[in-house]
Amino acid sequence: MKKLALITGSKGGIGSAISSCLVEEGYRLIATYYTGKYECAKEWFDEKGFSSDQVRLFELDVTNTHECNEKLEKLLEEEGTIDLIVNNAGITRDGQFKKMAAENWFEVINTNLNSVYNVTQPLFSAMCEKGNCRIINISSVNGQKGQFGQTNYAAAKAGMIGFTKSLALEGAKYGVTANVIAPGYTLTPMVAEIREEILDNIRSGIPLKRLATPEEIGKAVKYLASDDAAYITGETLSINGGLYMS
Ligand code: CAA
Repeated sequence: MKKLALITGSKGGIGSAISSCLVEEGYRLIATYYTGKYECAKEWFDEKGFSSDQVRLFELDVTNTHECNEKLEKLLEEEGTIDLIVNNAGITRDGQFKKMAAENWFEVINTNLNSVYNVTQPLFSAMCEKGNCRIINISSVNGQKGQFGQTNYAAAKAGMIGFTKSLALEGAKYGVTANVIAPGYTLTPMVAEIREEILDNIRSGIPLKRLATPEEIGKAVKYLASDDAAYITGETLSINGGLYMS
C-alpha cells in the first residue's frame, strides 16, 4: 500500500517541486489548494501529468481552524492515517515594520504559522498511534537570521522552528519525527517579486552566488521523509548556499 503524504501550498514554487519528488518516490499525495482555486489547482495537476491515484486535490483554507479540523477528520476516515505532513504554505507581505499594517502582520502569521497548528493538530494523534510518521515544516533562512522588511515573515518562520523542536519531543516516543527545512533564496515566483536591484544585492551576498532550485529543496524533503532519516528529529536543515550558518 502506498504511503500517504499531505502537503500544503502544493502548487507553489517549492511546493510543486516537493510534490513531484514525493510522487516519484511512490507516495499518494493529498495536495491542498486554497478555497475557490480549483481551476488553478487542476491546471497544475494536468500540467504535471499526475493521475488521481497519485494526487488528490483537496480544498482547504489552512488559516481556518474549524474548517481544517472538520475536513481533516473526514480525510482520515476516507484515506486512513497520513504518514507525512509537509507544512509548506506560505506568503510574504514585505514592508518595513514602521509602515506595517496590522492586516499584513496577521495574514502572514495566520498563513505561515497558525496554519501549522491547524493542519497538524487534527492529524497528529493518528500519526502517533500508527508510528514511524514524519512531519516536515518548510521554514526559511530569514526565520533564522532575520531580514529587513520581514518582521512578520521572520517571526512566523522562526516560530515554526520552536514548534518543530517541541513537537519532536512529543512525537519521539511514538517514532514520529518532526524536522524543519530552512531554504534560502530559491527560484520561485515569491522571490521573483523582489525588486531586481535588491535581489542582485542579496545574490551577491550568497557565498555560492546563486539561488537554490526548487528541486534542491524537494530532494531534501524526500530524504527527511525516508527511512534513512529515521534518527533525525527536531533538526533544522539549512539549504541556503552559505548565506547563514547557524
Ligand atoms: N538593511 C538595512 N537597511 C536597508 C536594507 C537592509 N537589508 N534594505 C533597505 N534598507 C534601507 C535602505 O537603504 C533605505 O534607507 P534610506 O531611506 O536611508 O535610503 C530604506 O531602508 C528604504 O529601503 P527601500 O527603498 O528598499 O524601502 P521600501 O519601503 O521601498 O521597500 C522592502 C522595503 C519591501 C522591505 C524592500 O527593501 C525589499 O523588498 N527587501 C527585500 C525583502 C526580502 O528579502 N524579502 C524576501 C522575500 S522571498 C522570501 O521570503 C523567501 C525566503 O524564505 C527567502
